[in-house]
Amino acid sequence: MSWWRSGVVGHARKKLDESNPSRKYQKFALIIGATGIVGNSLAEILPLHDTPGGLWKVYGVARRPRPPWNADFPMEYIQCDITDPEETQSKLSSLQDLTHVFYVTWANCGTEAENCEINGKMFMNVLNAVIPNAPNLQHISLQTGRKHYMGPFEEWAKGNIPGHDQAPFYEDLPRLNQSNFYYTLEDILFREVAKKEGLTWSIHRPGLIFGFSPYSKMNILSSLCVYAAICKHEGEALKFPGTKEAWNSYNDVSDADLIAEHHIWAAVDPIAKNEAFNICNGDVFKWKHFWKILAEQFDVENGELQEDGARKNMVEMMKDKGPVWDKIVQEKELLATKLEEIGGWWFVDFALSYEGTLDIMNKTIRMAGIMSKIGDALHLGGDKKDEDKKHEGAYSSDHKKNEGEHKSDHKPEKKEGIADKIKDKIHGEDGGSKAECGEGEKKKKKDKKKKKEGDHHDGGSSSSDSD
Ligand SMILES: NC(=O)c1ccc[n+]([C@@H]2O[C@H](COP(=O)([O-])OP(=O)(O)OC[C@H]3O[C@@H](n4cnc5c(N)ncnc54)[C@H](OP(=O)(O)O)[C@@H]3O)[C@@H](O)[C@H]2O)c1
Repeated sequence: MSWWRSGVVGHARKKLDESNPSRKYQKFALIIGATGIVGNSLAEILPLHDTPGGLWKVYGVARRPRPPWNADFPMEYIQCDITDPEETQSKLSSLQDLTHVFYVTWANCGTEAENCEINGKMFMNVLNAVIPNAPNLQHISLQTGRKHYMGPFEEWAKGNIPGHDQAPFYEDLPRLNQSNFYYTLEDILFREVAKKEGLTWSIHRPGLIFGFSPYSKMNILSSLCVYAAICKHEGEALKFPGTKEAWNSYNDVSDADLIAEHHIWAAVDPIAKNEAFNICNGDVFKWKHFWKILAEQFDVENGELQEDGARKNMVEMMKDKGPVWDKIVQEKELLATKLEEIGGWWFVDFALSYEGTLDIMNKTIRMAGIMSKIGDALHLGGDKKDEDKKHEGAYSSDHKKNEGEHKSDHKPEKKEGIADKIKDKIHGEDGGSKAECGEGEKKKKKDKKKKKEGDHHDGGSSSSDSD
């Protein structure tokens, strides 16, 4: 995908488009968590001129004041704490033009029961403010994650990952028999969407996310870079803070921009409506490979995996490093940050403690990747605007209450549409209706064959229908 990486020409055109006051918006998006690891990517990609779905007007919500690294994106920023129902109602119910909601936020509490409660309330506060007040609302895109299959952190902390044995994970695996705030969010989504005709949903389940946001609660990549910068500053080797299982096993990650594009794809393509999807990069690595590159990038000695017993976790290693980070910030003239804000050490410790688990991307590849690639290769895409218009009119009013229940009726049509085009391209078009064309060709061939057989066998034997 990566349609937003449109290069210099695209960038110049984008600037022109943005400065043109006569631009007419076709979609109106609300990003809940617009400064988070995926929210920031959505805020960057959605307003671009070549993002599918037409021109997007973007609203973004978070609690803190808008940070400078996110301030350039054409987005109306709304400071709002969605744990507060009154504040959420007063700040979001006036967004009556909304067509799409991207929910990419969460709260983290001590127990999963508390997580279910608070995250459920946050989501409901948003839906209560938006659904009754936005008559054109078409789609709600919810981000959860791979803990859908692996179970909550609370279980991991006990030293066991409940769903581990089921990997590689695919979307239709049954839920684990324990509470999980992702299940709470999904159930709320199914229930609330079903109340409004025509409203559709999608669920996106990334693994570990690599992306940019100093405001993310779980940003392993930037946390590890901060750790490497501290090692460099102190002249220490970069020691791997994880376990042998993590060091040696295969892992994959989910790029934040890719996840954002996945959300947008599902928001505008009828084939992806009312579906849950895994979303990861699809390539694998081992932490020991990653570690070598990280050490090279920061020009520090690779301290590698620590012998059993010598391992120190990140929370422990970083507890006195605040002043060191302050010095680095000052010396390198970085944007002022505090170590405790940007280092998600607890999360690094979790992520590097267990053997890697993989998921399967076949569903997205099947539904979006392969079909559209074949279409592109055969130049079946047509005019992008025509496609967008077609998609706009094709939103399904079907809903399913749970993953695995009935699918939207229009989805197979889309697949067949492309398949028909491919067949036409291979067999040739004669200007008539495609179905008729195909049937007509078949009939002609059959008649010819029958005639031949008649000639040879005097009309006696039946023939194969395989042509
Ligand atoms: N990060 C990962 O590696 C990862 C991996 C797999 C799955 N996931 C899942 O992805 C989902 C989204 O997480 P994320 O990691 O993308 O989020 P994130 O990076 O932590 O970002 C959260 C965003 O929401 C805002 N926010 C937090 N609490 C808020 C509140 N009460 N009211 C309004 N805004 C609030 C934050 O800004 P403020 O703090 O300024 O409000 C920030 O913009 C979660 O379900 C998470 O479990 C994450």
